[in-house]
Amino acid sequence: MAIVAVGDIKGIRFGPFKLAVGERLLSREGVPVELGGRALDILVALVTSPNEIVSKKQLMDRVWPDALVEEGSLRFHMAGLRKALGDGQDGARYITTIAGRGYCFVAPTVAVLPDHRDSPLVEDVFPHANLPPRLARMVGRDVDVMKLGAQLTDSRLVTIVGPGGVGKTTVAIAAAHQAAEVFAGHVLFVDLGVVADPKLAATTIAALLGLPVQAEDATPDVMRFLRDKRLLLILDTCEHLVETVATIASSILDAAPQVHIIATSREALRIDSERIYRLDALG
Ligand SMILES: Nc1ncnc2c1ncn2[C@@H]1O[C@H](COP(=O)(O)OP(=O)(O)OP(=O)(O)O)[C@@H](O)[C@H]1O
Ligand SMILES: [Mg+2]
Repeated sequence: MAIVAVGDIKGIRFGPFKLAVGERLLSREGVPVELGGRALDILVALVTSPNEIVSKKQLMDRVWPDALVEEGSLRFHMAGLRKALGDGQDGARYITTIAGRGYCFVAPTVAVLPDHRDSPLVEDVFPHANLPPRLARMVGRDVDVMKLGAQLTDSRLVTIVGPGGVGKTTVAIAAAHQAAEVFAGHVLFVDLGVVADPKLAATTIAALLGLPVQAEDATPDVMRFLRDKRLLLILDTCEHLVETVATIASSILDAAPQVHIIATSREALRIDSERIYRLDALG
């Protein structure tokens, strides 16, 4: 988010929501959410400064630039906004109150830039996007994340290789958050660590894409689905399925020219187009 000026942002995604900033439209899984103008102003002010405390005064100046209003008005519209978002329900957390200081938008956000004509903000929802939040206290990996971002533009398959527990998944998630806007939030995280049987690797991807799961090999269905999609796929924890994942990844690279893959593995996949990023332990 920090690398994008707010004026450049077409919209912002968070949880199941999309906020089309210019159109002043909030939608949830493609369905417009009814929200008053003041509540929307508050949301825009908070969501464009994620993880920052916005004071009550800043909010009031922004929402009522020409009028002096009581704090009660702010509280009233804040309550309406939280209700519309379902904040606090089923574990969803978007806005927290920082006592005596203001409010803070705490949910992970993904910016959508205007040049993503192939994935307009409101109409074309990718409901399967499931990137986990980045580790809030990640230390010492900024350079790795930056280098990975650069490699991902040059190469469509980057495998983060390193010993167990070194931070591969953590760095992959952080790099995917950084790249997410280029993929308009179309990011699929596939945890292969829970898949013991290689035959189920493709089925797992298919299920995450919402494809009907069949008894036979799901690879052709996955290829058909992906071939015209622009997507960032994270294949996490591949070492116990290296051969199978190598086959699936090569097929995807051949069949789906706009899909990029980040794999994490203790061993490389060893396919031609693979770019290996060796992750060393932090000093
Ligand atoms: N840069 C970091 N700063 C703080 N904590 C970190 C960092 N990197 C990893 N961790 C923590 O270390 C643990 C292991 O990290 P992670 O799961 O990313 O490693 P991994 O290489 O993917 O492991 P595995 O080989 O088991 O898949 C996690 O609890 C994670 O939160
Ligand atoms: Mg891992």
